[in-house]
Amino acid sequence: MKPIQVGLLGIGTVGSGVFNVLQRNHDEIRRRAGRDIAVTMVADLDETRARAVVGDQAAVVKDAREVIANPDIDVVIELIGGYGVAKTLVLEAIAAGKHVVTANKALLAVHGSEIFKAAADKGVMVAYEAAVAGGIPIIKALREGLTANQIQWIAGIINGTTNFILSEMRDKGLDFDVVLKEAQRLGYAEADPTFDIEGVDAAHKATLMSAIAFGVPVQFDKAYVEGITKLSSIDIRYAEQLGYRIKLLGITKRTDKGIELRVHPSLVPAKRLIANVEGAMNAVVVHGDAVGTTLYYGKGAGSEPTASAVIADLVDIARLEGADVAHRVPPLAFQSSTLREAGQELPVLPMADITTSYYLRMRVADEAGVLAKVTGLLAGAGISIDAVLQREADEIGGEGSTQTDLIILTHETREGDMDKALAEIQGLPTVLAPITRIRKEELN
Ligand code: HSE
Repeated sequence: MKPIQVGLLGIGTVGSGVFNVLQRNHDEIRRRAGRDIAVTMVADLDETRARAVVGDQAAVVKDAREVIANPDIDVVIELIGGYGVAKTLVLEAIAAGKHVVTANKALLAVHGSEIFKAAADKGVMVAYEAAVAGGIPIIKALREGLTANQIQWIAGIINGTTNFILSEMRDKGLDFDVVLKEAQRLGYAEADPTFDIEGVDAAHKATLMSAIAFGVPVQFDKAYVEGITKLSSIDIRYAEQLGYRIKLLGITKRTDKGIELRVHPSLVPAKRLIANVEGAMNAVVVHGDAVGTTLYYGKGAGSEPTASAVIADLVDIARLEGADVAHRVPPLAFQSSTLREAGQELPVLPMADITTSYYLRMRVADEAGVLAKVTGLLAGAGISIDAVLQREADEIGGEGSTQTDLIILTHETREGDMDKALAEIQGLPTVLAPITRIRKEELN
């Protein structure tokens, strides 16, 4: 069979991983794909860097459009990132009849509907295993391995940078700002870490998993996104004392009223496997009605782990190229004609309508009746308490302190009811500082 010729747009960390793994494992990959897969052209603004990676094995150009215009190229791998030029180039590659492989979660979470439609109209494939959780084959698992199931919920640690920061905060008792600087010094966090620490990167990935799991269009604009920047090490410590770890989770859940799609710090029972995923590692828990709970763990970033996912997509394309379009796996797992209506029947719920349990920390005056008032207001809103922890006043403000921290764990409730109760509690004169609220997921 004729070799598949690949053009690479961007040969930084992931691109060089793709090139190197394809070279190193060439024979086995060919035996699996049934044909040769060769990167024959690379576009990068830094031609010297590109040449250093590919030597004389591939043509190097500065202009990505030269790759797209080359009629010999079958597949374009987009590793530029972002929503700007990457979007234009992906659409141009599709228009030119090329299959596309991309690791660009931001692009697909925001413009996926347009891109998948353009690809369907042109009869080409857009593959994106590397866009979610790097080397973990979670797209394949959701889209194919679990295809028998009604997926009920997914919860994932899908951003390594923030998981590294949270692990360090817990291990060393350090504050967020200190650990972030250290993470940047070590190269774990980007110079501009905004997308990671504000939860945006995780929300892009959760959006893609949500669409695949529930057969709805990508709806990043409806995701609730809260990062870890306001998390205090004291909450990590209290959570530990109560038997929980704090993780930044990307969550999507099917309910009777619609879909929950949210990213925020969450208390997770320390005994859950996912609570013990440390450092920059990723993990995703998927619960399906037939299979029960499954867990996927591995490296969510890095040169060769991400290349592993990109090359898996290349092999899929090499196997299916030339096959009837009807034999391909739809990009979002469900046939595209069924997506729009399903999105209307199964809307993404506003945060007020999600259901979860909570960790609350309030700095209160250490005097009679305070706890009764707080629990009375929670009870009035129909919120049931699971556990209460009160620190010795001396531990909080030193000897003779008249303030203390009250920590309350609740059972599940509607977020809108919790908002209302918290507004009332915050108004009590004995509540002395803004209340900290962190959602809690039992994941059982
Ligand atoms: N910046 C991401 C992370 C990796 O920290 O996990 C790429 O998605």
